Amino acid sequence: MSTAQSRVENFQHVSIRDIKLGMFVVAVTKPKNDIHFKPGLISSEATFRALRSIGVEEVRIDLSRSKHQTEALLENPESNLAPVDEPEQTELTADEAHEQRQHTKKLYAEAKLLQTKLLDSLKNGETVDIAPLEEMADELVDSIFKNPDAMIYLSRIREKDTYLMKHSLNVGMLLANFGRYLGLSRLVIKELLVGGLLHDTGKIMIPDEILHKPGKLTFDEFEIMKRHVKYGIQFLDKSEGISEVMRTVAANHHERLDGLGYPNGLKGDELCLISRVSTIVDVYDALTADRCYKKGMPSTTAFRILLEGAGTQFDPILVKKFIKCMGVYPVGTLVKLKSNKLALVIERNEESPLKPVVKIIYSVASTCYLNVETIDLSNVTTEEIECAVDHNEYGINVAQFY
Ligand SMILES: [Fe+2]
Repeated sequence: MSTAQSRVENFQHVSIRDIKLGMFVVAVTKPKNDIHFKPGLISSEATFRALRSIGVEEVRIDLSRSKHQTEALLENPESNLAPVDEPEQTELTADEAHEQRQHTKKLYAEAKLLQTKLLDSLKNGETVDIAPLEEMADELVDSIFKNPDAMIYLSRIREKDTYLMKHSLNVGMLLANFGRYLGLSRLVIKELLVGGLLHDTGKIMIPDEILHKPGKLTFDEFEIMKRHVKYGIQFLDKSEGISEVMRTVAANHHERLDGLGYPNGLKGDELCLISRVSTIVDVYDALTADRCYKKGMPSTTAFRILLEGAGTQFDPILVKKFIKCMGVYPVGTLVKLKSNKLALVIERNEESPLKPVVKIIYSVASTCYLNVETIDLSNVTTEEIECAVDHNEYGINVAQFY
């Protein structure tokens, strides 16, 4: 008897509203007409949309052939997931908003501390318990759902901090935010966050003179640097509670669509959605980060580099989605207004990405700080963004304006 014949079928009727990625649809049950339909796995939002567009209201799924969303994501390289609607943000009073900002700041500070401890323990060769990281990830995901801009804002504000700690934390939060935007389940979002926190842990095994070398690495040095992925996986394989999503982030964040990445030179269909998303986020954060020997580039320049690599290094659809998720001017970006003032982006505008909410802080003409004024560019006609600028160029410490 073949495997297919021996499988126990387990049918269930599911409304089109409740269809999830990974479900195996065997038939259309409502409306009962002649809808031409080929049974199969819901492997992307496109399939789901197609069902809806032809008027399907209810389907019968076979649970025995369905996969958990995580499994489907790890196996399926298709990446045409649709962004979810932005969760409704409830209007907060000034006091509540202040309280929420303080909580976010506290949470971020705690996460930095925890990440520092994790890396210190690893350096000392101690066994690491990832349970506290998971707990923290839960709180961070909550915070990202409540106010994605606030958390991402903190991650974009570059302080002179330990690079590895900040990079890991930022990759985790950017991954979680992108996962939320792509409509992934809360569990996968949390695992993406923890995966980000752990993705570069192997770097503690790389000699400092290579890890912190200003300028280009030699061929031999780069070969040594590449080993951080293998070291990281060795560490994860020794740790308990590491999920497939977390492991995939760590294993594949340097793989490229064209097969020219490392350590395994995986390409095309060998790279699942989680791998593709990880590469984009890792490169974005590395490009925008300030290092002791070089200033990070503005988000807009990093977006251009991602777009240049779309189709070769990166999944082109996901690059576009990532830029959309971050906004043309991500929170934390310093912009120059046509009135020759500098302003800090503090809230994206989904409807009109060119008109975010900003804090005006500096007059370029008089080279002096101004009384801080918050304006919603979509509500005024007097101010307009000219371009994004590099805060280093103006010597402005943007962190103090949060
Ligand atoms: Fe890495």
